[in-house]
Amino acid sequence: MPFASLACISTLLLLFSSLHASSSAASVGRALLPGQCRSQPGDSTFPSTSQWAALNASVDGRLVTAVPTAKLCQNNGCTAEDWQSSIWRAALPGAMNSNNWEQDYAGNSSMCLLTVNTTTCNQGRVPLFAINATTPAHLQAGVRFAAQHNLRVAIKASGHDFLGRSTAKDSLLLWTQYFKQKTFSDNYRIGNKSYGSTVTVGSGVGLRDLYGAAKVEGKIFVGGTAYTVVAAGGYSQGGGHSAFSPILGLAVDNAVQYNIVLANGEYVEANEFSHPDLFWALRGGGAGSWGVITSVTYKTFDIFQATIHQTVIRTNTSTMSGQLMAAHARHIFDLDDLHAGQYFYLSGTPTNSSLSLSTLVKGVSGSTLIARMKPFLDDARALGAEVLPEITVTATPNEIIATADFGIESVVAGAAATAPGEVLPFQDDVSGQNLILGSRLIPDAAYRGNVDHFGTAVTEILKSGVPGFLGHMVSGGKVAENANLSVALTPKWRTAKTHMLLSQTWLDSTPPALVEQIRHNFTFNSMPLLINLTGESDSGAYSSEADVLEPNYQTTFFGPNYPRLSTIKSKYDPNDLFIVGAGVGSERWDAAGMCRK
Ligand SMILES: Cc1cc2nc3c(=O)[nH]c(=O)nc-3n(C[C@H](O)[C@H](O)[C@H](O)COP(=O)(O)OP(=O)(O)OC[C@H]3O[C@@H](n4cnc5c(N)ncnc54)[C@H](O)[C@@H]3O)c2cc1C
Ligand SMILES: *[C@@H]1O[C@H](CO)[C@@H](O)[C@H](O)[C@H]1NC(C)=O
Ligand SMILES: *[C@@H]1O[C@H](CO)[C@@H](O)[C@H](O)[C@H]1NC(C)=O
Ligand SMILES: *[C@@H]1O[C@H](CO)[C@@H](O)[C@H](O)[C@H]1NC(C)=O
Ligand SMILES: *[C@@H]1O[C@H](CO)[C@@H](O)[C@H](O)[C@H]1NC(C)=O
Ligand SMILES: *[C@@H]1O[C@H](CO)[C@@H](O)[C@H](O)[C@H]1NC(C)=O
Ligand SMILES: *[C@@H]1O[C@H](CO)[C@@H](O)[C@H](O)[C@H]1NC(C)=O
Ligand SMILES: *[C@@H]1O[C@H](CO)[C@@H](O)[C@H](O)[C@H]1NC(C)=O
Ligand SMILES: *[C@@H]1O[C@H](CO)[C@@H](O)[C@H](O)[C@H]1NC(C)=O
Ligand SMILES: *[C@@H]1O[C@H](CO)[C@@H](O)[C@H](O)[C@H]1NC(C)=O
Ligand SMILES: *[C@@H]1O[C@H](CO)[C@@H](O)[C@H](O)[C@H]1NC(C)=O
Repeated sequence: MPFASLACISTLLLLFSSLHASSSAASVGRALLPGQCRSQPGDSTFPSTSQWAALNASVDGRLVTAVPTAKLCQNNGCTAEDWQSSIWRAALPGAMNSNNWEQDYAGNSSMCLLTVNTTTCNQGRVPLFAINATTPAHLQAGVRFAAQHNLRVAIKASGHDFLGRSTAKDSLLLWTQYFKQKTFSDNYRIGNKSYGSTVTVGSGVGLRDLYGAAKVEGKIFVGGTAYTVVAAGGYSQGGGHSAFSPILGLAVDNAVQYNIVLANGEYVEANEFSHPDLFWALRGGGAGSWGVITSVTYKTFDIFQATIHQTVIRTNTSTMSGQLMAAHARHIFDLDDLHAGQYFYLSGTPTNSSLSLSTLVKGVSGSTLIARMKPFLDDARALGAEVLPEITVTATPNEIIATADFGIESVVAGAAATAPGEVLPFQDDVSGQNLILGSRLIPDAAYRGNVDHFGTAVTEILKSGVPGFLGHMVSGGKVAENANLSVALTPKWRTAKTHMLLSQTWLDSTPPALVEQIRHNFTFNSMPLLINLTGESDSGAYSSEADVLEPNYQTTFFGPNYPRLSTIKSKYDPNDLFIVGAGVGSERWDAAGMCRK
């Protein structure tokens, strides 16, 4: 994590080295005491070249060095298109989609940056080595080696993580991008219980790939609006929302089984019969804290026809933008009977701002949807806002989810809203920016009654320096009906009407001290304005699209489930091998996950 104090780590290292003189070969490692650290280069206990070579041999020669993207570009050259491509990044063990997570702002080993001329390229927060795993045995070998040598580990599928959790300084990366299984079943059984139609998907398969394969089978699953986000990686452990969640529920509501390598090196199935406590934790208990997933089995549904409605609403004063958001809030329940999903995002400048709307509904015609959108759009026009031409497309959800993509990252750049027009499936996810998010689940109750203050709050948020404001109407309906499912996901999802997120960005040339100020302002000045909209003192947020510096993450991300998650963590990972920022158990560790507090 970015703000670890280097001086502190060095002091602790001295203490640690003396305590770690004899490294036993115990395959499950051991717990560190407060003040002790993971083994780092230069430490006498750090694996020797021959030990790394032995690991390499045990994983069929699949140990690779992890290179920061900027260093790779400096050495090998790369294009601006490469830099911004999530597909390019997904194939690189050292790459994160938001490159700020590769950077070590707090340490004195910042990596070089593509857009800033530097002479040295250091490793930053990028792992040292990665296992390019294709079998559970590769991951088991990696887990055992890390435990034996007291190494910091990181787990990565795509590198999309908005909290920087899939990379860690001086770590061994367990990389699952090449688990490419896609197995459809008409009647999936565990023991003698039948789960009907499912897909078992490897923890390297991107959503776009899976939508295509599911369409061929005549099926849809609960997936997000993204190209390379991995259905069986962070998406699932966070909860997993979709524009069709109001009809189908969240991803975790439909997960039937996880295949996972545990901290002790065992490879197990977690389902309602086998390791049911772990199965509970994996469904919403936060990404990267439980083990290394190789596949998830999800229920699938028969494909159906759905319609997407898109438009852009332009405003030219911040007051008008605020009034527009208040009008949007007043109409938030208009499509409840249709179980509609919607993405809405406000971007631009105060004098030229755009609200982009994508509304997705099952089994409704384009003309019906246009009629149902009319009351809100008429109110928008009455405020003096300009409503651009509306478009609708009717197709399978597999196809239309692709057209709904606004590119969350583009909000950050203050990019123009997507103008409606020709509908093209998106070809990639925008990457290669310095990007952080913060979010809140806005309860249904907050929208009942007078919502004029939504407008004031949005205006204040934009004034605080946040370039974009992205709302998701992806709950209610089936998500609320599933309230009694026993999963680790915060129950705030079940009473939420929207999931709203703010974003912040900075240039590569921004000095580290200023980055720290920008982040501080985001967390402590801008986020409270969003939190206020919840009207709650114990508000909740979606852990996969959130701020890693969230002050009270235990409650905010996991609510009343945190104590049970802690207990399950101690059972399955007693030595905290799998520690991520703002994840279960991370309160025992420094921000880098390197040293025990
Ligand atoms: C363009 C874009 C669109 C998005 N749209 C949606 C959306 O519509 N709905 C939604 O819910 N979310 C969405 N997200 C958020 C997404 O769910 C998270 O970023 C998620 O963490 C990505 O998971 P990943 O495994 O692909 O990423 P990674 O960065 O590889 O990993 C994310 C986290 O999962 C852990 N992890 C990865 N692989 C494994 C594994 N095999 N075993 C155990 N842990 C693992 C990592 O350690 C890390 O903590 C979107 C993100 C982006 C960038
Ligand atoms: C691992 O072994 C393979 C095959 O021998 C080799 O090509 C590769 O460079 C080795 N990896 C590392 C990190 O040395
Ligand atoms: C960081 O490294 C530079 C160049 O090696 C050196 O001049 C500087 O003193 C270092 N700063 C700290 C805080 O260690
Ligand atoms: C980097 O170097 C190039 C060529 O020397 C120069 O044109 C450019 O302005 C430099 N960029 C920065 C940010 O200093
Ligand atoms: C990882 O393994 C896959 C599958 O064997 C291969 O296609 C890919 O090139 C490898 N990537 C790296 C960086 O080693
Ligand atoms: C299914 O298996 C369980 C446990 O093995 C058993 O108790 C139950 O009777 C079985 N049910 C059927 C329908 O076979
Ligand atoms: C603001 O937008 C409205 C509607 O598009 C337009 O009529 C008006 O002229 C604009 N005002 C300014 C100052 O640009
Ligand atoms: C407003 O922003 C849109 C989208 O960025 C742009 O196309 C348009 O030219 C801008 N209008 C003005 C008056 O700046
Ligand atoms: C959940 O269970 C409780 C207690 O049985 C019940 O009162 C409530 O209606 C259920 N909620 C839902 C959404 O089914
Ligand atoms: C942080 O917020 C303070 C107080 O609002 C402001 O004065 C300062 O300019 C902001 N700093 C940055 C880097 O945005
Ligand atoms: C929170 O919102 C209320 C309106 O609901 C407003 O009166 C109050 O000033 C806001 N508080 C903060 C700290 O923004």
